[in-house]
Amino acid sequence: MSTLHAFDPFAPDSPSHTGGSADGASLVQGDYGYAVLDFDLATKVLRDTRFINAALTLMEQFGITDGPVHDFRAKSLIMAEGPRHMRLRTPLARFMGPTTVEDIRAVLRGILEDIDPGKDAAGPVDFHAAVDQKIPARVYCHLAGAPAEDAPVVASLSARTLALLQRDPSLTESILKAYDELFDYLGDLIARKRQAGLGDDMLSFLIRQEAEGKLTSEELLSEATAMLEASSVNTAHQTGLVVWTLLRDRAAWARLVEDQSLIPAAVVEACRLYPRPGIVSKIASVDIELDGTVIPAGSDVHVAVWSANRDPERFAQPNAFDLDRERNQPLTFSTGLHGCLGQSLAKVEMEEVVRYLLNHYPHARVVENGTDIGHAGGRWLVGSLAVDLNPSTTATTS
Ligand code: HEM
Repeated sequence: MSTLHAFDPFAPDSPSHTGGSADGASLVQGDYGYAVLDFDLATKVLRDTRFINAALTLMEQFGITDGPVHDFRAKSLIMAEGPRHMRLRTPLARFMGPTTVEDIRAVLRGILEDIDPGKDAAGPVDFHAAVDQKIPARVYCHLAGAPAEDAPVVASLSARTLALLQRDPSLTESILKAYDELFDYLGDLIARKRQAGLGDDMLSFLIRQEAEGKLTSEELLSEATAMLEASSVNTAHQTGLVVWTLLRDRAAWARLVEDQSLIPAAVVEACRLYPRPGIVSKIASVDIELDGTVIPAGSDVHVAVWSANRDPERFAQPNAFDLDRERNQPLTFSTGLHGCLGQSLAKVEMEEVVRYLLNHYPHARVVENGTDIGHAGGRWLVGSLAVDLNPSTTATTS
């Protein structure tokens, strides 16, 4: 292990380090704690349940040390381990299986036709605001059996609660307020659903589980909250990153126009290069020996997903976008027992957005002026994504 003073694991486009081990070290230490840099060690840490999710510690560092929000997080799916984790994950996983997720493709096509970002466009549109930010919340509403009109509220609640991961303590008050609103929204939605009669959606299923004594009422709210907060904001940003990557690589885009069977590979490859969660942070729950170093209990261990995803030992020519990459399994959705539960769904959402563009706007191009993409706190962020959907028409009419 070494200490690299100039190394910032929260800067996923560092000119000094592009991926994999640094100066031969897979594990480095700095003010931030430990950072895990290469693919093999990152995989090992993410699969080791002695490294627990850092979200509760992050809240405590922000001064949220008791009260309902702290209580929710302490007992939530992501903090649970062993049989309790399985008990909480299983009812949700039922709605994330391949068949259910495949069925959502048709729903997505309907949503995209409804949104149609090009309908009033006389020039470039902000694709992030017009599409990326709308789709995941609409899908959550479909999954939870909530009215589609609730989607803007869902999108906003997901973004404002998970702002926690921006590691900015000035946001504490706004995060607490967002969780309060989220609990109220879901409490009200659950009451409305009970009154209107339950259906075959995910929230109805969880409500039935509570009625059958398989979940407590606190767990019902916790499960619904975990899915809502996780469902929207990451998918929205990752969709923007995928579209941005694919539209700028004209050779890859031309191949996709010719052959749509390449869409899933294209989405995974873009997620590898630009992972929304550039860092997945964990806490060592006990002393853990890692790569010859003993990590003391309580230490922050940041898995630098962006670095692991560009590890030259694992991915040949790691900085190149390669549609034909074999064994392409980046860590963008993490791995192990806490690996992202919604990853199949998120991939289908992104695939359908790309398919929609290929079918309706095959000549679409990113316009640099009006596009704002960067990163903060180790997370890639899309501020705006200007896309000219019909460049030839725009050129003729302008
Ligand atoms: C592109 C979009 C997404 C990305 C990049 C992403 C990434 C992640 C990551 C990195 C984790 C943490 C894993 C860990 O702590 O090791 C996670 C957990 C989780 N994600 Fe996602 N996610 C996305 C979309 C979704 C969606 C759409 C849903 C649900 C509809 C979802 C539900 C969850 C849940 C429930 C967990 C906690 C799993 C557990 O602790 O057992 N995610 N996700």
